[in-house]
Amino acid sequence: MKHSNPIIAEIFDAQQFAETGHQLIDLLAAHLKANIAGTSKVLNWKVPSIEDQHWHLPLPQKSTINPQGLLEKLSQEILPNNLAIHHPHNMGHQVACPLPMAALCDLVASLTNQAMAVYEAGPSATMLERQVIRWLCALIDEVSWSFAGGVLTSGGAQANLTALLVARQVSTSKANPSSNVWKDGITQQPALRILASEHAHYSVSRAAGLMGLGTNSVIKITTDKNGRLDLIALKNAHQTCLENQDTIIAVVANAGCTPTGSIDPLQAIGEYCQAHELWFHVDGAHGASALLSESHREKLSGIALADSVVWDGHKLMYMPAAVSAVLFKNEQHSYVAFSQDASYLFQGDNHEDEAFNLSYRTLECTKRMMALKLWAAFSLYGTEGMGALVDEAFAKAKVFAEKIQRKSSFELLMKPETNIVCFRFLNKKLSQEAINNHQSAIRQHIIQSGAFHITQVNLHGVTWLRTTLMNPFTTALDLDELLERVALGSQAVLSIAK
Ligand SMILES: Cc1ncc(COP(=O)(O)O)c(C=O)c1O
Repeated sequence: MKHSNPIIAEIFDAQQFAETGHQLIDLLAAHLKANIAGTSKVLNWKVPSIEDQHWHLPLPQKSTINPQGLLEKLSQEILPNNLAIHHPHNMGHQVACPLPMAALCDLVASLTNQAMAVYEAGPSATMLERQVIRWLCALIDEVSWSFAGGVLTSGGAQANLTALLVARQVSTSKANPSSNVWKDGITQQPALRILASEHAHYSVSRAAGLMGLGTNSVIKITTDKNGRLDLIALKNAHQTCLENQDTIIAVVANAGCTPTGSIDPLQAIGEYCQAHELWFHVDGAHGASALLSESHREKLSGIALADSVVWDGHKLMYMPAAVSAVLFKNEQHSYVAFSQDASYLFQGDNHEDEAFNLSYRTLECTKRMMALKLWAAFSLYGTEGMGALVDEAFAKAKVFAEKIQRKSSFELLMKPETNIVCFRFLNKKLSQEAINNHQSAIRQHIIQSGAFHITQVNLHGVTWLRTTLMNPFTTALDLDELLERVALGSQAVLSIAK
């Protein structure tokens, strides 16, 4: 059926969609192939303030390009000026080079636009999500997590917020059964605290700010030399809270902390939390995917003791962003975060059907059909294929760390537990402050050259270069080349400074 308004008719023209779509897929396939081959720069660096000057065009009143023009703009300007995510030299952030089939699923999600707030606005989207959540919970533990549940959220930051909202509601009503923080606020409460690793992602303290607790309510627990939460420090902080009569709403451990990828001693923390009836939250946004690997799942031993777990799909499950899971050992807890709706939910005549309306459990009302890509990846490749990606990434980090250790001009921060490797280039002539600035200058030099994309992190006053090795196409030769580039970069920045 053709619309009587020719503009609207063109906007929804299925034939044009198909023709442009086929060309677009060809363009993206060529882009993917070239990215993987690594023939061009990983980043076509441009100074943002200068680049921004090209983006002050008047809002188009009439059509300014046609679909062919759109494809040209994509192929000539937009794609070449993005970070080449599948490039073997892309090793900066914890962002997956997405599985191409998962990216196709995202196109389906966009065109079908299932709102998902309620079951009827996305029936199969809802079922896909419930299936994926069941699979993830089973990966944590088929037995003790058999009554588990959760939802998918747009990102790990939101997933952490959701888990901590539940933790607050559960922990405060345990401390004072007549209280309802969600309804009445926190004015009458003793101080509420979150005990979290000093390496916890900033979304944890941001969640505390958002929940009205203040970011200072997060007590940072020190870590050992391997970046793992120190149990004695946790016990001491707990003791201090008891003496101050504070209410602890959660203990937050990392399964793959952001700076170094270190995994906290989950078994010991979990047992401690169980013994003291503390809510145990595991932020596994980065590293929960080790559960997919036969060789590495042991590293997460104890994760099943958690009350809540966050797990990002767009990190080591190689999904296009964003898809994260917030999982609760007791499925009923998944209704508590936004608990004003719970009474309606459970007292309604059709309460079983209401459980299929996902918006009761998430901040988002309309949300994307996020589960399709994860369901497709598991269905296409199984845990065998998904685990192989994790094995590959972790093995590469080990190889890189060994290479660094063999070079006297480099220092390795720690043996990697996952796929994040931190190191620095040594220069004995430079002071501590100068050597820190030197790492930053080397990094700037490298990323502006377009040779590699790496990041940096400052830990206890020391700046480290940081790589997240998650691209399966990065080879041992690429890693050798990075170390050469760092050494050359050091010379280059020192000679510029002279
Ligand atoms: C450990 C950890 N938690 C949470 C997050 C936030 O996740 P997202 O970027 O998906 O919001 C990150 C992001 O890197 C992370 O590393």
